[in-house]
Amino acid sequence: MRPARIIIDTDPGQDDAVAILLALASPEEVEVLGITAVAGNVPLALTARNARMVCELAGKTDVPVLAGCDAPLSRPLVTAEHVHGKTGLDGIELPAPQMPLAEGHAVDFIVETLRREPAGSITLVTIGPLTNIATAFRQAPDIIPRVARIVMMGGAYFEVGNITPAAEFNIYVDPEAAAEVFAAGVPLVVMPLDVTHKALTTRPRVEAFRALGTRVGTAVAAWTDFFERFDKEKYGSEGAPLHDPCTIAWLIRPELFTGREINVEIETEGSFTLGMTVADWWRVSGRAPNALFIGDVDAEGFFALLTERLARL
Ligand code: BDR
Ligand code: CA
Repeated sequence: MRPARIIIDTDPGQDDAVAILLALASPEEVEVLGITAVAGNVPLALTARNARMVCELAGKTDVPVLAGCDAPLSRPLVTAEHVHGKTGLDGIELPAPQMPLAEGHAVDFIVETLRREPAGSITLVTIGPLTNIATAFRQAPDIIPRVARIVMMGGAYFEVGNITPAAEFNIYVDPEAAAEVFAAGVPLVVMPLDVTHKALTTRPRVEAFRALGTRVGTAVAAWTDFFERFDKEKYGSEGAPLHDPCTIAWLIRPELFTGREINVEIETEGSFTLGMTVADWWRVSGRAPNALFIGDVDAEGFFALLTERLARL
């Protein structure tokens, strides 16, 4: 099978960084055409910098990295330094990036790539707030039917929320953008907290990264050690959820995951529920399905895949 040709839209973030590494390590299954940075976990200047640091760590400096939107469509930016640290990639000090940002705006890159490449050949992998994607869809609605699918980390149903009691971070930061993307009619594969909270970085899994004995293995172990402290305290869990790499893992080995085709709507008004993904898991609304909403993962298989692929870098 030909690799999925993807653009990764991201706000690195340690778990974004691991997702990028997994993609760059898996050229048989995914070809990364570009990485588009968006404001999210930390402001845009840092996410655009971190994305390049991750490419350099992987030794893949030929992938274009572009800076995109620095704030949500119609709200002030909410960031998550309390989880990811001041830089977004706290846990290990990496050298400042040498590779420059690619010229131009990330939104233009998304539009131009989708217009240039054959319709249905490009997958958007979104692992941050959906501002760049919604902006591209607003500016160039002709690209919407050209998107093969969107594979997204975002939302929750059974796990409800992480940044508020009702909302997951990526959706909460830009709910208007999320609502537009969910309504666009593009095939969607959604990795909500319901599944990512099953992909936990237990001690043996982190030690397996460290035992690779490579710069990549050391960095991934240090990052997971760093953001674990917050989640362990919050959830009392054995480790931290490795959210974003679930998207790339689904492209490589979809059989590791199970989910349901359901309707998902985004709450953009609720004073307590802003950014909630109202997921009709039990199919009670009568609304047409618009997403494959993933609910479960073979966590052992997921971490085995991740470790095997990171060993290649
Ligand atoms: C999502 O929010 C960010 O903090 C993570 O990088 C992930 O994309 C999890 O809610
Ligand atoms: Ca992210």
